[in-house]
Amino acid sequence: MSRWHIALLIAVFLPMTAAPTQEPTSPRERISIDTDWRFTKNDPPGLALNLSYSSIRQWILPTGNSFVKDPARRFAAPVENFGETIPYVQAGFDDSSWRQLDLPHDWGIEGPFSSAGNGGTGRLPFYGVGWYRKKLMIPATDAGKSIFLDVDGAMSYATVWLNGHLAGGWPYGYASWRIDLTPYAQPGGVNQVAIRLDNPSNSSRWYPGGGIYRNVWLVKTSPVHVGQWGTCLTTPEVSNASASIRLNVTVDNDSKQEADITVSTDIFPLSESGNRTGRAVTTFPRANLRIPPRSSATIEGQGSIANPKLWGPVPQQRPNRYVAITTLQSGNKVVDTYETVFGLRSLKFDPDEGFFINGEHIKLNGVCDHHDLGALGSALNYRALQRQLEMLAEMGANAIRTSHNPPAPELLDLADKMGLMVMDETFDCWVRGKTPNDYSRIFGEWHEQDTRMLVHRDRNHPSVIMWSIGNEVGEQGQGEAGAAVAKELSEIVRQEDPTRPTTSAMNMARADSPFPAMIDTAGLNYQGAGIRNAPPQYPVFHQNFPQKFVFGSETASTISSRGEYFFPVAAGLGAVAGADSGEDASRHQVSSYDLYFAPWAASPDKEFAAQERYPFVGGEFVWTGWDYLGEPTPFDSSRSSYFGIIDLAGFKKDRFYLYQAHWRPDLPMAHILPHWSWPERIGLKDAAGNAAATPVHVYTSGDEAELFLNGKLLGRKKREPFQYRLRWDDVIYEPGELKVIAYKQGKQWATDSVKTAGNPAALQIKPDRETIAGDGLDLSFITLSVIDRAGLRAPRANNLIHFSIRGPGEIVATDNGDPTDFTVFASKDRTAFNGVALVIVRAKRGQAGKITVSAQSEGLAAADAFILVK
Ligand code: GAL
Repeated sequence: MSRWHIALLIAVFLPMTAAPTQEPTSPRERISIDTDWRFTKNDPPGLALNLSYSSIRQWILPTGNSFVKDPARRFAAPVENFGETIPYVQAGFDDSSWRQLDLPHDWGIEGPFSSAGNGGTGRLPFYGVGWYRKKLMIPATDAGKSIFLDVDGAMSYATVWLNGHLAGGWPYGYASWRIDLTPYAQPGGVNQVAIRLDNPSNSSRWYPGGGIYRNVWLVKTSPVHVGQWGTCLTTPEVSNASASIRLNVTVDNDSKQEADITVSTDIFPLSESGNRTGRAVTTFPRANLRIPPRSSATIEGQGSIANPKLWGPVPQQRPNRYVAITTLQSGNKVVDTYETVFGLRSLKFDPDEGFFINGEHIKLNGVCDHHDLGALGSALNYRALQRQLEMLAEMGANAIRTSHNPPAPELLDLADKMGLMVMDETFDCWVRGKTPNDYSRIFGEWHEQDTRMLVHRDRNHPSVIMWSIGNEVGEQGQGEAGAAVAKELSEIVRQEDPTRPTTSAMNMARADSPFPAMIDTAGLNYQGAGIRNAPPQYPVFHQNFPQKFVFGSETASTISSRGEYFFPVAAGLGAVAGADSGEDASRHQVSSYDLYFAPWAASPDKEFAAQERYPFVGGEFVWTGWDYLGEPTPFDSSRSSYFGIIDLAGFKKDRFYLYQAHWRPDLPMAHILPHWSWPERIGLKDAAGNAAATPVHVYTSGDEAELFLNGKLLGRKKREPFQYRLRWDDVIYEPGELKVIAYKQGKQWATDSVKTAGNPAALQIKPDRETIAGDGLDLSFITLSVIDRAGLRAPRANNLIHFSIRGPGEIVATDNGDPTDFTVFASKDRTAFNGVALVIVRAKRGQAGKITVSAQSEGLAAADAFILVK
């Protein structure tokens, strides 16, 4: 049952009492219900009912009522039930022939790929209707409790029935939402949940996935309980000496009686792994709260912590966290306990100096990422997401933009833990759509709920530093009318969270248009550094909005295929990719010299220079950290993007080292490109009849380097100001060894070398983790390399590999990062792409022992990897 809080009640403070010595027991339970669902595609044959969103929206809209501020605009739930005649919602329906599966689930990733239609959504069948059913055992002892279904994300247009009653739903596939099951639950037996999803085609510019693709929970509480995301913790003053904390707690009283409760909160430090450590560092005064029947009330508590351990991004700071444990008591009885994990940090977005956290100036070295997990599709997997973030952190990224939608809650948990900052985004479009069936269809009725939902869900995460209300929305170019929408959304966010700024990623709003005035910070997509020959807009926005923080909300969009190099190589800051410019139009690959980009975009080098020339710019979010499914610019026929710094399988492209060199200046490193196995370039002549050059580029955090070919010095080069790579553009290829020695301030700093490889002779196989948990979720990502007789990786090998497995595990997917590979991800046969392939292994739930993964390929020596399941 959703309601708006009736009032902010005045707290009655009692004298402070000691923290309870006994652990209070709370009736609150949050149970994962991901396992053992039944699934089928399509509606039952011959269904006479119209289940389209437009015909059932009156039953769905009330689910969002708690996020509609104006009571007059909330939606009344129809009195009558809907859909009880649909066989699939009925308890007695025999679903034994349906597929049995565990959530999170993405029905699109199974494929097959299709060469028809456009490539924007990854050529995978994510669309259509899907039904999920699960039998929930609700014991008789749950009678009288409030019972909720919490869905972290379902793609999309979800409708939920419990025991044949339509209980609610939510259309936006990236939202997290709660259904109150209490009115329809029958404690003392099996309760039948049925969820229908209706995922439209032409609804996205990238691969959205389809299905219940995030975690699902059953939450049980006593009728008086902390509401959904019912705590809001802010830290008005934070310093190393002390931090003040304000905590609003919203309590729902679902019962028919008035409730008199006391609210108390204790704060504990958390260890790195998230366990409570030590004694409470502070205890808020207990307060009394009286809540009328069937309503909610919010109470504010205050406290402070002396010598706090602050939260901040790594490597400069540490991501220390605390937990606030709020206890509701009725007399001596604990009726609810609720945990709010948070961090203490101060943020400053200075228009002239840039971004500061805890008083320290830190540049936002960010990347934009989509939500898919490559070969695993959009189905959330904690380890796969953690791996994505770990590699980005290794590169030196300290911030993530959740383009262009609310992320899985786990992303924020990981970011909090790992010390990564987040730009949390709501929408890719508003009223003006980008594809025929996208969010613009429901923006009018749902934007308020979806915006408030996001802020409620995510506001206590220290990692979240700003809210983005939209990406490249059409309203940018609609003068005052478009600006009015930006104003409304920005105001909604400010009402829910006055502590963080709003932004909107602007690719075309000009500094003198009405749009940017409506948002707190100016996030510029591409135009900051200047699109093509257009002048850079960073200084223009800075001048027009002297009070606003300016940053690159989306930059670069450089494209490349890992391990592909085409000649000749563009000069200077690079060029728009094209048939004669970095592309192999017949193989649909793009050169990896990191100098080719989409027509609206730029090389990393150009953006770095702009950021340095205008030091007021707070940083950038590169498009993109990882390759993603769909949007395969410039080859629409492909399945996945070329934008990633890391490819879809998780193999680093050269660009990884370009960013690492710039973002981690203290890490001694050097990286040479291209590979050095070019038999066809021996003695090659260019069009003018001269020996053809094979340019060698070096990315290093040093400031100077010497390049040697087979021991012969090819020159010492120094990085000039606004230069981010060292280039030896006239090297004449000869097989052997290329070696670089990098220097910093005159001292040797780092080396790298690359050798000519022989013919493929054997396979080598290496897991990223050799021990994994037998929880049915944990993964080992195994790299297969094709090597020559000397053990060198063969950088152009494309042998077909067959993978097999023995022991308590299964192969979930294989990939190679090649955007043109249409082999389904579940296949155990995969060609290597430029020498490597990936196999993803999952341990079976509840099992332990040794897994053996074998790789075989005709004519090559086979290899095995061993993984221990604990
Ligand atoms: C941007 C857009 C992104 C992506 C990118 C590709 O304009 O915001 O979503 O499409 O272009 O370069």
